[in-house]
Amino acid sequence: MKTRRPEGSPVVPAAKPTAKAQASTAAPAPAAATPAPAASFGAAASAPKTDLEGASHGYTSPTQVSCPFSAEEKAALSKKIPCPALAGMFNAGMLKVEKDGTVKIPDLDRALSQLGPDAVTRKVLTNGADNTDSVKGSFNLFKLNGSNLDHTGSTGIRQNGVHPERFDLLMSFSKDGQRLTAKDLANAGEHFAKEDPGLRGRLTQLAELSIVMQVFGRRAPDGSRYFTKEDAKQLFVDGQIPSSWQPPAVPGKVHVTDVLGGAALGLFRQLINGQ
Ligand code: HEM
Repeated sequence: MKTRRPEGSPVVPAAKPTAKAQASTAAPAPAAATPAPAASFGAAASAPKTDLEGASHGYTSPTQVSCPFSAEEKAALSKKIPCPALAGMFNAGMLKVEKDGTVKIPDLDRALSQLGPDAVTRKVLTNGADNTDSVKGSFNLFKLNGSNLDHTGSTGIRQNGVHPERFDLLMSFSKDGQRLTAKDLANAGEHFAKEDPGLRGRLTQLAELSIVMQVFGRRAPDGSRYFTKEDAKQLFVDGQIPSSWQPPAVPGKVHVTDVLGGAALGLFRQLINGQ
């Protein structure tokens, strides 16, 4: 089973909470239980407060691909994309998409290469995309909900529509209410895995949450990665690459092995490629 969440709920505007979302937003908020860490993140401490109403404008690629959609169509269609990174690339004008949602694998690879993953990581990701339907060499960006990449244990923010209340739940794992650190994300991942158990989902979610932090996270003075609340909101709710993000000076430096141990890597590849 790929997901325990209802499928086909309305996409635009954001659907009312799923049964699961309703149940789980009542989960105790760990943020309240843990004191805020010392202000060790420099600039992040002065990050602006987030206005969760309305979409903000994220990163825009200086080299726009051709796009067959109006701004309104793009905004509506991006709500059909469960992956924050794919939605971000689509909205930034990095990902070439045909009117029916078809994305050619080399175009996906090109867009991913601008984000920073190395060739092996891109191969894992593009193989996963190519295996989501029977057409070789492409996948449909707007038909990923319910595909074989749809899995248990995700945050549910962008699953079958956009659910801002699930973002509130994600942010409840922030120890200071303003930033999400790698530890906060790991704690959130544990919670989502318990909500919606499944080994495959747990592992894939772990990989996704690690990669998303590696690719889009800000770097703290101590070298660790984090998101401000606004970064996370832009990415997960608005489906935009955070406006704080800058293309890596040297692309191809994010490796799957940076985020997963060797054993998990083997299993992850089997799961992604063995469809
Ligand atoms: C750098 C590249 C990528 C990053 C950082 C990334 C990150 C993520 C993250 C963090 C999630 C979890 C969202 C959540 O739990 O709310 C996710 C979900 C998803 N991603 Fe990606 N992703 C990337 C590339 C891709 C590619 C190439 C595909 C291929 C089609 C893909 C397909 C999906 C799908 C289908 C989901 C939804 C899974 C579910 O909710 O069950 N992603 N991604």
